[in-house]
Amino acid sequence: MSTNLLKGDNMKRVAFFDAKAYDRIWFDKLNTDYEILYFENKLNEKTAFMTQNCDAAVVFVNDEINAATIKALANNKVGVIALRCSGYNNIDLKAAKDKIKIVRVPEYSPHAVAEHAMALLLSLNRKIHRAYIRTRDRNFSLDGLIGFDLYKKTIGVIGTGRIGKVFVDICKGFGMKVIAYDPVPAKDKDINYVTLEELFENSDIVSLHCPLTSDTFHIINKQTFVFMKTGVYIVNTSRGALIESESLVEALKSGKVGAAALDVYEEESDFFFKDLSNSIINDDVLTVLSCMPNVLITSHQAFFTNEALENIAKTTLKNLDEYFENKKLTNEVKLKKND
Ligand code: NAI
Repeated sequence: MSTNLLKGDNMKRVAFFDAKAYDRIWFDKLNTDYEILYFENKLNEKTAFMTQNCDAAVVFVNDEINAATIKALANNKVGVIALRCSGYNNIDLKAAKDKIKIVRVPEYSPHAVAEHAMALLLSLNRKIHRAYIRTRDRNFSLDGLIGFDLYKKTIGVIGTGRIGKVFVDICKGFGMKVIAYDPVPAKDKDINYVTLEELFENSDIVSLHCPLTSDTFHIINKQTFVFMKTGVYIVNTSRGALIESESLVEALKSGKVGAAALDVYEEESDFFFKDLSNSIINDDVLTVLSCMPNVLITSHQAFFTNEALENIAKTTLKNLDEYFENKKLTNEVKLKKND
């Protein structure tokens, strides 16, 4: 970092929300120019007052940056919100326009997420999660653990951006037949694009790699399950609200969906990233899903590699530098014309 106008009395103060010990490792190592106040709680309209005397807020996937939060931040003269992630569905961009700048980390490791999606699929299919528990209890039977070859199976990939493209390559490496849907097809890859309906009809496995937008909200729902093959596997490492969770439970109960691997969940913000092992979960859908033998849930950990954490810290600090040095914001998130 080149800046020195931030040092001494002029050091900019950054409110860092939803901070976990692992977040601090790379930020503490790389940061020389900012006074970072780490807060464990999330940013929302109730906690926005904590940004008093701060110049920037650094946030993550489940902070709630609605109009009220933005108003409170703007009143506190916070000029920029830096997301430590690529998705920005938790920000009210209309409310932020002309009030506060939004920057993000568009890419930190597409490999981390794509590899996790494949890890989930492999575990789910070959029942590794169940075998692990069985053998620890010296139960060496194989009943109920039959999987299928991924080789020659058809996988439907929804969204072929940075992560989706890496995932397509991984699937091709397994000898799978890949079909994909994306309104903006990749120009740099040889991918067999089909319509969304064709994808649902022909896929043995559907994997989600698109952002959460008004177009993709509940892209998998009660109606779309009807098109799908009986026994289809669903993998979601993108955003929980891409799937209508209650319908997923019904589809799993009826056998329409054979199994589901979820790294994200519609209502995850109250639960994920916390140890609630001594609590009753006040969410019946999550409770049912987590009890099903053919559902594998990880708590939004697809991004969680050393490489990704380092890149997140580097890019976030660079984004802050650009803002405070009045440079062009490379990773600014702006309201699109039809948003
Ligand atoms: P990207 O922006 O590179 O690619 C997204 C792709 O989705 C684009 O090609 C876009 O055209 C496509 N898309 C947009 N609307 C669509 C629609 N209606 N149907 C199908 N495709 C559509 O984003 P990237 O980096 O590949 O990330 C994808 C998503 O993964 C993020 O938006 C985020 O929600 C999620 N993510 C999850 C992480 C985790 O830890 N679980 C970590 C990082 C990202």
